[in-house]
Amino acid sequence: MVNSLEAMVAGKLKKIDAQNLRRGLKPTERFDHAVVCRGGKKAISFCCNDYLNLSTHPAVKEASKVVLENFGLGSGASRLVTGNTPFNGRVEQRLARLKGSESALVFGSGYLANMGVIPALIGPNDLIVMDELSHACMYGGAQLSGAKIVLFKHNDPSDCQSRLAEHRKNYERCLMLTEGVFSMDGDLAPLADLSDLAKEFDAWLMTDDAHGLGVLGDGRGTVAHWNGKGCNVDVPLQMGTLSKAVGAYGGYICASQKVIDFLVNRARTVIFTTGLPPAVLAGVDKALEIIETDKKLANQPVEKAKLFTSLLGLPDAQSSIVPVVLGDEERALKASAQLEKEGFLITAIRPPTVPAGTARLRLTFCAEHKEEDIHRLASLFKTMELVA
Ligand SMILES: Cc1ncc(COP(=O)(O)O)c(C=O)c1O
Repeated sequence: MVNSLEAMVAGKLKKIDAQNLRRGLKPTERFDHAVVCRGGKKAISFCCNDYLNLSTHPAVKEASKVVLENFGLGSGASRLVTGNTPFNGRVEQRLARLKGSESALVFGSGYLANMGVIPALIGPNDLIVMDELSHACMYGGAQLSGAKIVLFKHNDPSDCQSRLAEHRKNYERCLMLTEGVFSMDGDLAPLADLSDLAKEFDAWLMTDDAHGLGVLGDGRGTVAHWNGKGCNVDVPLQMGTLSKAVGAYGGYICASQKVIDFLVNRARTVIFTTGLPPAVLAGVDKALEIIETDKKLANQPVEKAKLFTSLLGLPDAQSSIVPVVLGDEERALKASAQLEKEGFLITAIRPPTVPAGTARLRLTFCAEHKEEDIHRLASLFKTMELVA
């Protein structure tokens, strides 16, 4: 008898292979100073999101270790039962202070935050207007909400305005979604314009600041970045992750106290899931303390990214992320393999993570990257003719 499950996946995998889109999980060990080991060979990683290298910071590890010894590994239950270790509250207070909001709520991951917050606030009679390049988990939360989803052209406030003008009047409530720093392109959302549009159309602006916290606005994220430039950006819903510059794991939303109280009652990805391990939260608390107090550290990833773009004559990096778009999947895979041979780990990013025809090398810069390595990498990009 034909096993229909096996036959289905075999057929689909064949198609994925033919398109050069097969993904696989490669064991990779990560060490201090952005060094990784894959297949027995060491390389310098230019594709981790640990922008401040806090995942290996001695004080962060120590804070986590002490709590692990005292409280064990798991949190044992949902936060609403017995899984609400006091470290949640400490982290939430720090996040609210950093982001300039009244309150905050921690989730199991950034993905879970978007999957919980969006459907809790907005439903089938409502409208979501979102940047077309928003992250998969913003799409996931939007789809789960059942709201009408309208996309606007990437970072184009006038297209966003047209969409709002056309659709807003037909729906009771409206949520606007964008990333603060776009994860695959490294560019920043025009938050001042979007914030004005949100006011004009009575929409609630929500940012995913996964790549802004710890890196922009002296570590406080994209809203602080724009307001530091004299803009008047007001974002009532600032979502983010603890897995990138914070160097750990978890997600969060910063908002008013009333919104947070409501989410505790309605966000299914807080209610029906186990709380984060206490040792992870203790490490996060220490990492956030470092971000709050060490502004010099926070500015380093963008400085390093700018060094790379200047060496190659590329447009100035706006964040710690620099995309080098190669177009073709095969070309991106080959370039990544060649760079790995030369001692640099830069994973090829292919559709559906990025739009068709825009396969790329996505470089991420972190505080501990050495200048000489960035020079060596830029020379390789020149000799491999990866930039025009
Ligand atoms: C923009 C953006 N949002 C959300 C996430 C998900 O966060 P987490 O890894 O904490 O689930 C990511 C990356 O993983 C991201 O790049």
